[in-house]
Amino acid sequence: MADTATPNVIRRADYAPPAFLIDTVALEFDLIPERTVVRNTMRVRRNPDASHAANLELMGEQLEFVGAAIDGAPFAHAHAHEHGLTLDNVPDHFELTLTSLCNPAENTTLSGLYVSGGNFFTQCEAEGFRRITYFLDRPDVMATYTVTLRASKADYPVLLSNGNLLEQGDLPDGRHFARWEDPFRKPSYLFALVAGKLVALEERVKSGSGKEKLLQVWVEPHDLDKTRHAMDSLINSIRWDESRFGLELDLDRFMIVAVSDFNMGAMENKGLNIFNTKYVLANPETATDTDFANIEAVVGHEYFHNWTGNRVTCRDWFQLSLKEGLTVFRDQEFSADMAGGATDEASRATKRIEDVRVLRQMQFAEDAGPMAHPVRPESYVEINNFYTMTVYEKGSEVVRMYQTLFGRDGFRKGMDLYFKRHDGQAVTCDDFRHALADANGRDLAQFERWYSQAGTPRVSVRTAYDTAQQRYSVTLTQGYGDAAPAARETQKGPLLIPFAIGLIGKEGHDLPLQLDGETRPSDATTRVLEFTQTEQTFTFVNVAQEPLPSLLRNFSAPVVVEYDYSPDELAFLLAHDSDPFNRWEAGQRLATRELLTLAGRAATGVPLQLDDSVVAAFARVLTDETLSPSFRELALMLPSEAYLAEQMAESNPAAVHAARQFVRKRLANALRKDWLAVYEKHRTPGAYEATPEASGHRALKNLALSYLAELDDPSEAVRLASAQYDAANNMTDRSAALSALLNAAAANGGSIEAQQALEDFYRRFEKEPLVIDKWFALQATQRGSAQRPVIEIVRKLMAHPAFNLKNPNRARSLIFSFCAANPAQFHAEDGSGYAFWADQVIALDAINPQVAARLARSLELWRRFTPTLRDGMRAALEKVASQVKSRDVREIVEKALA
Ligand code: TRP
Ligand code: ZN
Repeated sequence: MADTATPNVIRRADYAPPAFLIDTVALEFDLIPERTVVRNTMRVRRNPDASHAANLELMGEQLEFVGAAIDGAPFAHAHAHEHGLTLDNVPDHFELTLTSLCNPAENTTLSGLYVSGGNFFTQCEAEGFRRITYFLDRPDVMATYTVTLRASKADYPVLLSNGNLLEQGDLPDGRHFARWEDPFRKPSYLFALVAGKLVALEERVKSGSGKEKLLQVWVEPHDLDKTRHAMDSLINSIRWDESRFGLELDLDRFMIVAVSDFNMGAMENKGLNIFNTKYVLANPETATDTDFANIEAVVGHEYFHNWTGNRVTCRDWFQLSLKEGLTVFRDQEFSADMAGGATDEASRATKRIEDVRVLRQMQFAEDAGPMAHPVRPESYVEINNFYTMTVYEKGSEVVRMYQTLFGRDGFRKGMDLYFKRHDGQAVTCDDFRHALADANGRDLAQFERWYSQAGTPRVSVRTAYDTAQQRYSVTLTQGYGDAAPAARETQKGPLLIPFAIGLIGKEGHDLPLQLDGETRPSDATTRVLEFTQTEQTFTFVNVAQEPLPSLLRNFSAPVVVEYDYSPDELAFLLAHDSDPFNRWEAGQRLATRELLTLAGRAATGVPLQLDDSVVAAFARVLTDETLSPSFRELALMLPSEAYLAEQMAESNPAAVHAARQFVRKRLANALRKDWLAVYEKHRTPGAYEATPEASGHRALKNLALSYLAELDDPSEAVRLASAQYDAANNMTDRSAALSALLNAAAANGGSIEAQQALEDFYRRFEKEPLVIDKWFALQATQRGSAQRPVIEIVRKLMAHPAFNLKNPNRARSLIFSFCAANPAQFHAEDGSGYAFWADQVIALDAINPQVAARLARSLELWRRFTPTLRDGMRAALEKVASQVKSRDVREIVEKALA
């Protein structure tokens, strides 16, 4: 069926409550890799709030049906089919026992029950539980679960599931069992089991109310020395949710398990979070500062889901952002608080800048392409394709806007009301909005549009200063540009945009803010304007001098701001804005402006040149010791090639690369002495420390090294990088040195130093898969040259004995890195990158459709590219469309070609 019929579209408007409810589930597993037996006993009843159905329709996939019994008696009227099991004419309430088989050993999709490294794991979100047993596999069916696991004791000494361990013991024939009970009702997507040879780092902590909690981080034995940071992150997460939101851990035991074959980052199964090893394992030798930060964020994210996702879950998958947007917002705030506390705005800004950079580079691009959708989508073909930047990152921005409107205390009141109303329920995004509105006495009907409109809003700004009247007016206009075709279809009227603004005087200080009609200026020099009309003018009075506006401070809404700052004004904001985010933003605008002009020239073969004033603005940041190293690193990093290409009328990756490289070289050569001084000054000798300060020093120092590697004569950089590589006691410095060596050598077709470092790196870390992933990724993302195209290196690496297409981390490290993070090489004019992409999407489709569909997305913006590339891209998409089988990939390529 799947490969002939048009794929079925699931629509939000078609939601209907389930005809039956399931109150309790008792699962028994006989775990055998090729033939696992699952016995599932459920208490089922007709749903009083649904229309009558005679038959019970259960979902099931890739299962072998063995038998059914109702109230203990064999039931003959159960028919297994491709999508599940139909039970004819069932009673109003009954106990149903189903037995079925599945084959975890052959399950390469990593959805359902599968084997990885000889151990058993599950992944049920979104619709994987139906690959384990027949069920009403939808989040509005909530039940309590008891789980009995039976397996060989020698092969699977550890048996884990959700909740509390009730009993365990030995069985005949070298087998043993464990019985678990989860006291909380949950949807099936939160079920999990793990069985295998694992060991745990354990801690006992007391929660806010004084109860003792057992915390465990389970890993393979050789990884036990890489669990401390994940455990610390978990303890910090528990403390943070208590202090910021008054939310306590509700189970006696909380477990994290690491698995090396995993489709996504991690999964919030109740009491038994399952993580990609990438987001658990870290020590200074194997993990970078970024890895440490990501682990803290993901551990926090999954832990915070315990309340936002698990205690209150989603009614249906269209509401995914209810849990994901909210939980991303919570993990972002957690990371910011960990870095800067509640009040150190400069340190908090570092996190904010990083998050906004991801949003603008990835989510804005999504909004401009064929997969554009609202935060709460209206339809999907495959739900796994909707775990997107829009649902997660834009969803988080939407939640952040409530906090921007109501303040932290108002937001907290809304959260408290949300839990008071909905604890234990499966609810909608509207329920969340109503809780926030009611707790703050506000009507938020207009705010609903943030959930239902696709596309990136654009706010254009006009200002006028009346010297005689000392009035300054700011006129805001909102709409969607041509770049957001999806927006036109869903547009319903203007949005409520919290627009934070400050006014800066000639001396660089914030001016007092008094709106027309107010009796005196406010204490704060940032005001959040509530911008609700298509066009609206805000007038400030008693403005003694013509100010420079600081717009959308701290990125108060996920929009594009259009305002024609001059380069001098941007340099002034970069030097003076009191809002650290906007200080960074001014530098980005300045750089983007220059880079786009240069890219336009490069595209038409005009020689490139860069104004000295731009170099001077960057020099001031580089040498300003009053700025934190982490801020300077962010400010001196140029916008990415992908972001820049997206800003062009027609994306031209080669021109963008030429322009960006030109500017990097120019900044390297012009400021050589300063880069060298910064490199020396920000070394972090001695034992490695994972603190934000130390990592800021390393980031700035390694940025300096990467600029030095651009020098016309890179010999000094090569010397520094080689020495840094040899002396490094941590992965941040070692991988930065290796990357600098690779890039310094690119123009000359490689170097001895780079080759030797690569070989050393491999030998040194041969037994550390996560580090070998870095080894592949560094090579796939390196700069190439005409003599040495990176595609050839990638092709060779595909045949390396350590390469394995079945492991998602490994596939991502080589294939995704090349196709999505090396645009200049991937978009080679000869189309070689596209042909490679098509082959890999097709190969992955047969193994793991979810991973294949992610890779498939790297060509979705093809229509926005320069005409010389478009044909090759379309041909590759058509090839994939004609060969793939999965719903996942078909939805992506068919939308791209439509
Ligand atoms: N809910 C997970 C999160 O924390 C996402 C996730 C993990 C997921 N594994 C998945 C989604 C597999 C789809 C398929 O964000
Ligand atoms: Zn999540």
